[in-house]
Amino acid sequence: MSVLSLQSVSLAFPADRDSRQTRLVLDGVTLHLASDEFIAVIGRSGSGKTSLLNLAAGFLKPTSGRVSVDGADITGPAADRAVVFQDDALYPWLNARDNVAFPLKLKGVAKGERRLLADELLAKVGLENAGAKNIWELSGGMRQRVGIARALASEPRFLLLDEPLGALDALTRTRLQQFLLKVWSDSKTGAF
Ligand SMILES: Nc1ncnc2c1ncn2[C@@H]1O[C@H](COP(=O)(O)OP(=O)(O)O)[C@@H](O)[C@H]1O
Ligand SMILES: [Mg+2]
Repeated sequence: MSVLSLQSVSLAFPADRDSRQTRLVLDGVTLHLASDEFIAVIGRSGSGKTSLLNLAAGFLKPTSGRVSVDGADITGPAADRAVVFQDDALYPWLNARDNVAFPLKLKGVAKGERRLLADELLAKVGLENAGAKNIWELSGGMRQRVGIARALASEPRFLLLDEPLGALDALTRTRLQQFLLKVWSDSKTGAF
């Protein structure tokens, strides 16, 4: 089992473009996520949720404190931590299947096998017949599920989700909450 740790992490951004002053967004945050856990962070808009996730993903470095996986400092993004962005960041020029297969392509998985694995992942998120669909043909909830399938394709130890259900209507959101819990318990991937 792996553990993603933030230890006494602080993060400051420049207060404005011209000054040297900084503004503290995160102040001494300590948090441990084991690869069989599901942690949800709740806070008002602007409270630093995305910043926290960006630190865990390795997109940002903390101003002070440590971010590590199993004791090794995180130096940047890597395949063990997959990110699902707040607005689905799918490639509009690829269909649903090729979006999911993209991380497999980067890994050098052969075309036929990629296709097979991508279809399996799409089935896992309840989109067994959507592989050939264009991204713009999918509803918001479907797009988010394609994003989650793509994140799972790299078999990450941790799934970092930034308000993945934020942009959806209440009914779809409730359904996808159940779905997320199921994906999490099936995939044994730490979720944050
Ligand atoms: N790259 C950045 N440069 C400067 N300020 C930033 C940057 N990213 C976020 N901030 C500021 O940090 C604060 C926290 O932002 P964020 O982590 O996006 O909050 P949340 O996701 O909880 O809404 C906000 O005040 C935001 O304006
Ligand atoms: Mg945010």
